[in-house]
Amino acid sequence: MFMKKVLVLYYSRTGNTERMASAVAKGAQISDKVEVELTFHVEPKELNLFDAIIVGTPTYHHEMPMDFKKLFEEAAVQGITLKGKIGAAFGSYGWSGEAPKLILEIMKNRFEMQVESPILAKYVPDEKTLDACRELGKKVSENLMNRI
Ligand SMILES: Cc1cc2nc3c(=O)[nH]c(=O)nc-3n(C[C@H](O)[C@H](O)[C@H](O)COP(=O)(O)O)c2cc1C
Repeated sequence: MFMKKVLVLYYSRTGNTERMASAVAKGAQISDKVEVELTFHVEPKELNLFDAIIVGTPTYHHEMPMDFKKLFEEAAVQGITLKGKIGAAFGSYGWSGEAPKLILEIMKNRFEMQVESPILAKYVPDEKTLDACRELGKKVSENLMNRI
């Protein structure tokens, strides 16, 4: 069986989304047939090396971070194909929390990815939320393992 690759890409200024990202990555590591990359930067052309793309994004000023906007913008301009790949998003927020939803919208509507529901944490993620993050990672990897 081929190796499956999961990207956990995140941004975090004060560590809240980072905690969630670590839990997602841990949950995704279900087998030595799955390679999980936890990072805060990828080039647009690297995106299609992965079978699943999970993005951790806090909300600042009702937006996703500029880096992520640029990443998806450039991927679209470069004609990067992500159709059918699994997409997911999560993140910490303070009061409105739009960013994970915005990322999922782009994944679904522009890139035709298969998206999961987002996980949100108000400021510091509690244990229950971190469990949900681990579950999200696990679910994504299990879905990949069940694909031929
Ligand atoms: C300058 C500033 C702007 C923010 N804007 C928003 C916002 O528009 N909506 C929201 O839900 N939270 C907002 N927040 C709260 C952050 O999303 C929250 O602190 C979050 O936990 C940061 O996650 P991080 O530690 O991963 O960077 C803002 C915080 C700061 C400091």
